[in-house]
Amino acid sequence: MSRQRIVAGNWKMNKTYEEGRALVKDIVGQLQPTETLVILCPPFLHLNSISGQIKDVRSLKLGAQNCHQEGSGAYTGEVSAAMLQSVGVEYVILGHSERREYFGETDELIAKKIDATLKEGLHPIYCCGEKLDVREAGGHLDLVAAQIKTALFHLSAADFEKVVIAYEPVWAIGTGKTATSQQAQEMHAHIRSLIASKYDQQVAGLTSILYGGSCNPSNAAELFSQADVDGGLIGGASLKAGDFVAIVNSF
Ligand code: 13P
Repeated sequence: MSRQRIVAGNWKMNKTYEEGRALVKDIVGQLQPTETLVILCPPFLHLNSISGQIKDVRSLKLGAQNCHQEGSGAYTGEVSAAMLQSVGVEYVILGHSERREYFGETDELIAKKIDATLKEGLHPIYCCGEKLDVREAGGHLDLVAAQIKTALFHLSAADFEKVVIAYEPVWAIGTGKTATSQQAQEMHAHIRSLIASKYDQQVAGLTSILYGGSCNPSNAAELFSQADVDGGLIGGASLKAGDFVAIVNSF
């Protein structure tokens, strides 16, 4: 069994309801049948309606961009994993650097969110990655190792197998400055070896590790050709159907 290739689109806080539906219609129209799993992660508000739009497209899945760590209760403005599951969501992005930076999320909190999603049978897409100063000081491998240990290594092997990892160097997100394929490969191989030492080679070999950060139709093929890069988590380029589908076709 080989690991799943994945291209996920993180729309962030973009697209009104009608714009979102139009984008999905275009993606569905342009996407060829593929073995790559294509995950759309629109804002919460759009999930239910997009779930209906993509239900007959085998390679398209639905993801959310966050969820709350508690199952239910008095948490005004929040959305639970069970609510997501109830509208057809299968994946949840957790630990995105924008959640860490603007909403104060720590790996301790993200660990609880990971547990909440797994409890509902959802797959977390766990984001990790270093800021520029850390990379320049040579601390990127240790920092990402610490993030992964704190957020994920309390999981059983059976639960860990449901997790997707996205390496997103913060300095590459929305900056147009992509990591080189060598930088991505080095980090992805490092992450896979951490997983092998915590769990085993088989679990490590089956974990999909995505790259994110200014990935676009011109650099995706080079990044995805690396041995340990199993796809991408795409921000800006996921907002245009043509670019997003071109990235999917880059394998
Ligand atoms: P960009 O592709 O816009 O750099 O964003 C990457 C990202 O943050 C995906 O989660």
